[in-house]
Amino acid sequence: MSDASANQTTKFQPRVFSGIQPSGGLTLGNYLGAMRRFVDWQERGLNEGFETIFCMVDLHAITVWQDPEALRRQTRELAAGYIASGLDPAKAILFNQSQVPEHTQLAWIFNCVARMGWMQRMTQWKDKAGKNQQNASLGLFAYPSLMAADILVYHATHVPVGEDQKQHIELTRDIAIKFNNDYGVDFFPVTEPVIEGAATRVMSLRDGSKKMSKSDPSDMARINLTDDADAIANKIRKARTDPEALPSEAKGLEDRPEARNLVNIYAALSGKDVDSVLAEVGGKQFSEFKPMLADIAVAHLSPISTEMARLMEAPDEIDAIIGKGAEKAREIAEPILKKTYDIVGMIRS
Ligand code: TYM
Repeated sequence: MSDASANQTTKFQPRVFSGIQPSGGLTLGNYLGAMRRFVDWQERGLNEGFETIFCMVDLHAITVWQDPEALRRQTRELAAGYIASGLDPAKAILFNQSQVPEHTQLAWIFNCVARMGWMQRMTQWKDKAGKNQQNASLGLFAYPSLMAADILVYHATHVPVGEDQKQHIELTRDIAIKFNNDYGVDFFPVTEPVIEGAATRVMSLRDGSKKMSKSDPSDMARINLTDDADAIANKIRKARTDPEALPSEAKGLEDRPEARNLVNIYAALSGKDVDSVLAEVGGKQFSEFKPMLADIAVAHLSPISTEMARLMEAPDEIDAIIGKGAEKAREIAEPILKKTYDIVGMIRS
């Protein structure tokens, strides 16, 4: 735990929460920026005695249109991805957002705490709504308020995410602070975003200035967790680069976004820092480095995609796992929501 959070632990026990949208196709960005780090937190939670909670945020996914059958499949596929990456339902709580109604109940209260102006400033809202904001769903606008509820309904203190979610976690902090001030309580923790490692922002393989994303129109821009070895190697071979050899120091990656991205991916997959990777590969041409990267990516991702495919053969087992996870999650969320209702002034029988 960081120093900043040490103060919180006097009142709030450490607890980790994070979520991923089942909006189709998991990428290497999701894996390195989030899923793999969830597994590290799971182990740390086990050793240090705190809970770790990971969610498929299906209610967030429907802020843009989702085909119902596809959404069900994607939600199971995400659960399979979590488990194949190393999350273990015996160690961490793994569940589906819509099965724990306390998320949406708390989100309503947060809708009444958060201000329109706060939501309007969110870059994800601006990006996703585009020029036609009037036609975007109200859910898309209120999205960060539900996200704050996901986190705070567990009094989560730490939220591991990729760089792109930083602004949403800051808004979660603002909501917690305003709620505590408005009602004169010290009830919600001021959550820490945990953005760490070499791959907090994995970039597109076709354009080093764009995030690797499941919604990129070009499949060549991303590595999917379901890609086979040939597809992975082919995408890395065709990844955009510049003509220079690799530098031997991180400074040499400045102004070379594509080179930096591939080195970051290599560092994250090999568990090394960028400096030691460059000490190893500095001076090599991309023609030599790309096959090294492809090997390590395939070695890492192939067992995950095989295990995901195996798990997807047994959807009932997946449903049973997430059903049990939802029960455990509700045991934590229910008393926190009840207490929130009391604070706000709702009569409960
Ligand atoms: P989502 O579903 O877009 O992404 C899930 C996680 O993957 C990370 N990520 C990346 N990290 C590095 N490089 C990339 N190219 C990349 N692409 C995605 C994201 O940062 C994220 O950690 N709003 C969230 C879901 C959410 C949530 C929450 C997260 C809902 N409630 C509560 C944490 C806590 C989202 O859309 O993530």
